[in-house]
Amino acid sequence: MSAGHGGVAGSGAGYQIIVRPEGFATAAATFLGRKLRPAAPDETLSVALSGGTTPGPVYEALARASQPRWDRLDVYFADERAVPPDDPESNYRLVRETLLDRVPIPPARVHRMPADGEDLDEAALAYERAFPPRLDVLVLGLGTDGHTASLFPGDPAVDEWDRRIVAVEAPAEPRRRLTITPRVIAGAHLIVVLARGEYKMTAVRRALSSAGTPEEVPGRLARRGVWILDTHAAGGLVPARP
Ligand code: 6PG
Repeated sequence: MSAGHGGVAGSGAGYQIIVRPEGFATAAATFLGRKLRPAAPDETLSVALSGGTTPGPVYEALARASQPRWDRLDVYFADERAVPPDDPESNYRLVRETLLDRVPIPPARVHRMPADGEDLDEAALAYERAFPPRLDVLVLGLGTDGHTASLFPGDPAVDEWDRRIVAVEAPAEPRRRLTITPRVIAGAHLIVVLARGEYKMTAVRRALSSAGTPEEVPGRLARRGVWILDTHAAGGLVPARP
């Protein structure tokens, strides 16, 4: 890893790390904002967003960023809990309140994951049909147990390479969820993983380590991504020589 711009940047086997001692949310939003700006006038981009506690401040900072072209961005979800869209546990509610309500995005460009229906398997199939063949940008988080999206250690969905969206039973509440599969992660042009806090240090180290499997640490599926970390979450990584 090498120092620069008050932070640390580094790379390993296919992955890049950006660490900012301060201003995690602003740094992550600035990076994402640049990636959510289409290069050509007629180009549209697709992004899938995650939930959890980490991305809220990032989405709020992104809503203030000037780079994204909201009228040319299709917003999807990486996972969703089987709750109504206004539930405190809903990822859609989080993204709507912190980002979508604050930017001029056409409603037709927001593709909510319908995990609140009766039949989750049917909902997964319907979302899969509407999902882009390849995401331009995929924003993921990392759980302390190593899960990403709602792909949890030991779950058969971690080995699902045919389907793109599936229903799962998570080990944490709310248990019933929809999630993208490894196929979607593998196909994304750019993966951005957001993690902050000392309690994430071990999971980050395990996900980026050269040993282990995605079944043990599903976050390893995102290894080739850009990992935006604070100094605490990055604390378990061994800095490379300058
Ligand atoms: C979710 C997620 C999940 C999340 C991690 C990290 O809906 O819970 O998409 O994969 O990114 O659990 O969550 P925190 O940011 O709360 O630690």
